[in-house]
Amino acid sequence: MHITRTKTDIRELCAEWRQPGTPLVLVPTMGFLHEGHLSLMRLARQRAGVQGRVIASIFVNPTQFGPGEDFDSYPRDEARDFDLLRAEGVDAVFAPDAAAIYDPQAQTIVETTELAKTLIGKLRPGHFRGVATIVTKLFNIIRPDAAIFGEKDYQQLAVIRTMTRDLDMGVEIIGAPIQREADGLAMSSRNVRLAPADRAAAPVLARALDQAEAMAPSGITASRLRSHVRATLEAEPRARVQSVDIRDAGTLDTISGPLTRPAVILLAASFGKVFLIDNRVVHPSPEET
Ligand code: PAJ
Repeated sequence: MHITRTKTDIRELCAEWRQPGTPLVLVPTMGFLHEGHLSLMRLARQRAGVQGRVIASIFVNPTQFGPGEDFDSYPRDEARDFDLLRAEGVDAVFAPDAAAIYDPQAQTIVETTELAKTLIGKLRPGHFRGVATIVTKLFNIIRPDAAIFGEKDYQQLAVIRTMTRDLDMGVEIIGAPIQREADGLAMSSRNVRLAPADRAAAPVLARALDQAEAMAPSGITASRLRSHVRATLEAEPRARVQSVDIRDAGTLDTISGPLTRPAVILLAASFGKVFLIDNRVVHPSPEET
């Protein structure tokens, strides 16, 4: 596995590899890898085939963290990450530091104007601008044929699909299903920072989503479903509920009245200082699942 630290090195490697019939598949991450990330690497390996190349990036991107957020305390363990990536048969990892990525004179940003303002964008102003800009830079540096993102970060995936389409980036965006711990908690690099009592409480997110999924085919309205989910979360004293939203699963538009199309339930809650998100697509009638 090649380990590269500079734009020049990864560009040269990709230029060598870029041949007809050898797709380059990129998996962007911020490291501290878990099974969720590794499932993306496996999907990338499948998509690349024997001829293609899988490139992972590890970069804790400062511009997507707000003031007072956890950039400094974000967990890091590069040596372990490299071992895990090697074991997955990843061909190259791009692990730059911030100085190798951002020119101090930089003044260009990428922003999905509407999507960046709603949902998590309200709780974390500027977050999606940071994500869209770094992902654009990674696409321009690596020029992949396809890139893989987890459905765990549902709105992030929507932002990336939208910008790729709007700016004709010519990168195929592939979504990958959420990987969970045995008790349902969605895997996240931040889970290691949960205090034991918070770790025990956090599966309430998945439980609330299970309940909602079971209720969705009953003809329930979006607002009543939302109240049920909120009540389940609020019954857990360690959870500080940040947001509960039910949106159109495709467009993320608001919905009202009984569900008529697939909807996504998006949750954000803090446990101590740790901010967690989860989501589930639910269907109004069993035959649509
Ligand atoms: P990070 O949080 O490290 O996640 C990297 C990728 O792994 C994202 O596409 C995310 O959705 C996916 N992922 C995380 N947990 C997952 C889980 N439990 N199941 C499936 N996929 C999961 O997301 C980012 O980094 C950054 O915002 C990034 C896109 C790299 C831009 O900086």
